[in-house]
Amino acid sequence: LTGPDVFSERVVVTTARLTPAHHDQLVALFAEIAKDATSARFHPHPFTAEQAYAIAAYQGEDLYLGLFLDGLLCGYGMLRGWEAGYVVPSLGIYVAPNARGKGYSRAFMRALHDAAGQRGARCVRLKVYPDNLRALRLYERLGYIFDSEDGVQRIGLLSL
Ligand SMILES: CC(C)(COP(=O)(O)OP(=O)(O)OC[C@H]1O[C@@H](n2cnc3c(N)ncnc32)[C@H](O)[C@@H]1OP(=O)(O)O)[C@@H](O)C(=O)NCCC(=O)NCCS
Repeated sequence: LTGPDVFSERVVVTTARLTPAHHDQLVALFAEIAKDATSARFHPHPFTAEQAYAIAAYQGEDLYLGLFLDGLLCGYGMLRGWEAGYVVPSLGIYVAPNARGKGYSRAFMRALHDAAGQRGARCVRLKVYPDNLRALRLYERLGYIFDSEDGVQRIGLLSL
């Protein structure tokens, strides 16, 4: 659905802001997220076709980015909060199962940090469930500091 298990030998990794040109791929990725048991810990908004269309068409202050491997949409990233008036954006990330464990998630995180920095952010925050060890490990390796909680989720902060 979102690409092969094995990508070409020299995978071209790109990130780009999602636009209406991506809406078919985004609908497919959202359908995959909706049925992925590992995404139970990732619920920033509903993963419906309607939401995919809305995000592909969105042109506001927040940022919705895609991770593309050889041109195929394999990841979804968000930097939200600017539109609501916050100075520090909240980051969210999903990488399709066939693209995990290969370093692309870290590259995607770095691209999200760069995009936040280009928007003038000096810090990024995120929330993660303490049992989402894979995500926690990714964030800790990138330098996020976890020293507060929001209910059951831990809040991570990274200075850019
Ligand atoms: C979270 C997510 C983006 C991480 O991407 P990934 O490609 O799977 O991450 P990696 O395979 O690079 O693993 C990250 C780290 O966790 C480690 N790890 C992998 N599986 C693990 C497990 N079951 N338990 C503990 N650590 C694990 C890896 O070894 C790696 O650490 P290392 O760099 O020290 O080797 C991806 O798994 C995903 O999209 N998950 C579903 C959505 C989600 O949970 N989003 C985050 C919400 S806060």
